[in-house]
Amino acid sequence: MQPIIIALTGKGGVGKTSVSATIVKILTEKYPDKKILAIDADPAIGLATALGVMPKITLDDIRNKIIDSVENGNTKDAMELVSESRYKIYDAIVQKDGFAFLAIGRPESEGCYCRINSYLKNVIEMVSNQFDYVVIDGEAGIEQINRRVMQKVTHLLLISDSSRKGIEVIKTIHKVAGRMVDYDKVGAVFNRVEDISLLGNVDIGEIKQLGVIHSDENVLQYDAGGRSFIELPEDTAVVLEMKKVLHNFNIF
Ligand SMILES: Nc1ncnc2c1ncn2[C@@H]1O[C@H](COP(=O)(O)OP(=O)(O)OP(=O)(O)O)[C@@H](O)[C@H]1O
Ligand SMILES: [Mg+2]
Repeated sequence: MQPIIIALTGKGGVGKTSVSATIVKILTEKYPDKKILAIDADPAIGLATALGVMPKITLDDIRNKIIDSVENGNTKDAMELVSESRYKIYDAIVQKDGFAFLAIGRPESEGCYCRINSYLKNVIEMVSNQFDYVVIDGEAGIEQINRRVMQKVTHLLLISDSSRKGIEVIKTIHKVAGRMVDYDKVGAVFNRVEDISLLGNVDIGEIKQLGVIHSDENVLQYDAGGRSFIELPEDTAVVLEMKKVLHNFNIF
């Protein structure tokens, strides 16, 4: 079976990481027997904290090792590292109760190193294919859409707050994703909405609105305290609404 790959994007600070962590919580509880992978695609590695994970190495650490060898002229070592990276990626995966975790770091930062990057892209795809559900917490903004981790997803989830800027960003991402991302379904979630009437005149064109999450005191508390979102209470706004969203998105 092909994995269900849910990728979250949107403007900075709109709640991508909080919502990603909540999705992982919901999926692990609903599907204890399924293989679930959480991918932190934001170099700031916020999802690790939200899921109570301590990543040892990132995919970018592996990539940098290869690049160092190339730059030091150790081409043979570099080639060995490339073929080993298929196994090294498993060192980068942290296994937790009910889910696995992988941090990307900063892929494709400086320089091209195209062959290494496209090789690692295949490695990510290979790993994803061994899971039933993959949740990708993206970096803020549009750049990520051009990057390899977002190229093939089944469900593209656009997150916005009620601000004009947040909404413009999801509309732009939607437009660009039409060309750049091979996705099956796309939809939007409004998060941290204080006043629902603010969404009254919002026009998101043909993007389906999947849900609205109100301000949730627990999210702030868990975030501030560095507590794992896996332990969020069941009756908190973000958990209740995201269950509806996943249902509206045909994930369950
Ligand atoms: N529904 C909510 N209610 C209250 N606070 C929230 C809610 N969602 C997110 N927050 C808070 O908003 C802040 C930003 O959330 P989060 O880190 O999830 O956003 P992000 O989109 O991942 O940000 P970044 O672009 O920096 O990665 C955090 O302090 C978080 O606790
Ligand atoms: Mg984040």
